[in-house]
Amino acid sequence: MDSIFNFIYKRIFKQIFFLFDPEFAHDLVIYIGSILGRFRFITCICLRMFSYKNKRLNQKIKNISFSNPVGLSAGFDKDGDLVNILPCIGFGFAQIGTITNLPYGGNPKPRMYRLKKTKSIVVNYGLKNIGVERIVSKLKKVKVKDFPLGISIGRTNCKEAGELDKGVRDYSECLSKVIESDVGNFYTINISCPNLHGGEPFTTPEKLRYLLKTLYSNPVSKPVFIKMPVHLKWSGFNELCKVADSFNVDGLIIANLAKDRTSANLKDYLPDHIKGHMSGMPTQSLSDELISKTYENYKDTFVIVGVGGIFSAEDAYEKIKKGASLVQLVTGIIFEGPQLVGQINKGLVRLLDKDGFYNISEAIGAYHK
Ligand SMILES: Cc1cc2nc3c(=O)[nH]c(=O)nc-3n(C[C@H](O)[C@H](O)[C@H](O)COP(=O)(O)O)c2cc1C
Repeated sequence: MDSIFNFIYKRIFKQIFFLFDPEFAHDLVIYIGSILGRFRFITCICLRMFSYKNKRLNQKIKNISFSNPVGLSAGFDKDGDLVNILPCIGFGFAQIGTITNLPYGGNPKPRMYRLKKTKSIVVNYGLKNIGVERIVSKLKKVKVKDFPLGISIGRTNCKEAGELDKGVRDYSECLSKVIESDVGNFYTINISCPNLHGGEPFTTPEKLRYLLKTLYSNPVSKPVFIKMPVHLKWSGFNELCKVADSFNVDGLIIANLAKDRTSANLKDYLPDHIKGHMSGMPTQSLSDELISKTYENYKDTFVIVGVGGIFSAEDAYEKIKKGASLVQLVTGIIFEGPQLVGQINKGLVRLLDKDGFYNISEAIGAYHK
């Protein structure tokens, strides 16, 4: 069945989607997905067609039950439109957003550009979203139960919030509104969006400390994760880990988009006028290395969520054996299709068998044991 969907996606749907501008194709998928998610019989059909269930993939992490370790990463469902359909595709959890205190219409177009041979998307949305208030009111109406949702929170992309104090206040207001609404199971502080006014503001230890001190000045009752940058060398990355550790941050999502075009081993021509940063393959080895180093140095201090260039069960398993408890993807489903999620989960069980593990949790950090 998986191979049939794989064939249909790659030979028909992908051919059609890839004829269109990537942002138009993305918006179309969101529109169709949000409509399909309203009909119970359609979600039931999707569940039968795509999802793969196996109790060997179940985990309880920070008191949240995950039916499998494969989640949707931030940036695909920016405004929380797909929550009713995502579990039926087979995801074990999803990250909504990144959402911000004030709405933002996005950076000038084009802000998505495909690198087909490289298997990457150049992204320059700049945290486009309809704003926290509208998104949380939408999420409150979601029918799906027992599907963990992370709410990714960022700084509003405007000139004023680019100033440090105002930016911190802006984050804080956004988080307070999310906490008040009680939506989501965990919060993610996105410190690493590279496409903002004033640049990526909280990826120095001093500024991160200031941000976390402010955010934790009010009680936060759900687990907090930080979405980490991918381009830092270990020493700089470790400085951020130390700050996160000092605030008892629950987890690190490793990591965001890749910046460096020269070392990205691109197989496509990427014109200089295309602004933005790269997802998919150019992030894969960078994120793998940071996951490995973080686990090696911090063991269970942080729950690690591995993201970047997952296109197969083997890619996901590699991140898990390096130290990730959960994984997320975006670019993989764009290039491979929605059946990839079930394929990864099925493949993970095969890989567990091969290594003699029963539950997926036994494979976490296996390379370091
Ligand atoms: C179209 C697109 C939009 C994204 N927007 C966000 C975002 O709003 N917040 C965020 O934390 N990451 C965002 N990302 C980064 C992804 O969440 C992920 O970290 C990165 O793409 C690497 O994973 P992948 O190779 O599976 O795509 C975006 C990625 C893509 C492709």
